[in-house]
Amino acid sequence: MLEIRGKKLRLVIDEERIKRRVKELALELERELGGGEPPVFIGLLKGSFIFLADLIRELSLPAVVDFMRVSSYGSGTESSGEVRILKEPELELKGKKVVLVDDILDTGLTLKRVKEYLLEKEPAVLKTCVLLDKKEARKVPFEADLVGFEVPNDFLVGYGLDWGELGRNLRGIYAVEL
Ligand code: IMP
Ligand code: MG
Repeated sequence: MLEIRGKKLRLVIDEERIKRRVKELALELERELGGGEPPVFIGLLKGSFIFLADLIRELSLPAVVDFMRVSSYGSGTESSGEVRILKEPELELKGKKVVLVDDILDTGLTLKRVKEYLLEKEPAVLKTCVLLDKKEARKVPFEADLVGFEVPNDFLVGYGLDWGELGRNLRGIYAVEL
């Protein structure tokens, strides 16, 4: 039985299902973005790093990678929903096909803010792609263009997602039994 800090972990999505779904997402992206210049994949640190790494290796297209980091609104600023950009992308995005990648869409505050920020860079195309979508947890309306799995409103860890920085290196996705 896997545990983190004495809390039991319940398997929600196993490694094989993730692998199959990541392949499907990559195929979908190839269909939508194939031809022309290589798309720029922008991962949100830190949660997206494993998903992004697997996703781009399933693509049979050339791809370019960049990262952003945003502040979490979690401590104290929850009501304001303020999301600050801590690290901007380093590559030029104007006129490029851009894919914003994150681990999980929860309240929607992060991706809404980051999408607005990226649109100001005037990409030719902007797609949003998340592995997990907690639809019930939305505080602002937001839908991603590509979603791996819809998940219930549990606290999840694994495959890049953490609970207090632990759990990112688990191969599957688990609910923390709080
Ligand atoms: P949102 O702004 O609430 O949509 O937040 C998305 C961010 O919150 C994600 O990038 C995750 O880092 C974090 N997050 C939301 N739900 C979970 C969860 O169940 N486990 C771990 N991190 C989560
Ligand atoms: Mg995150």
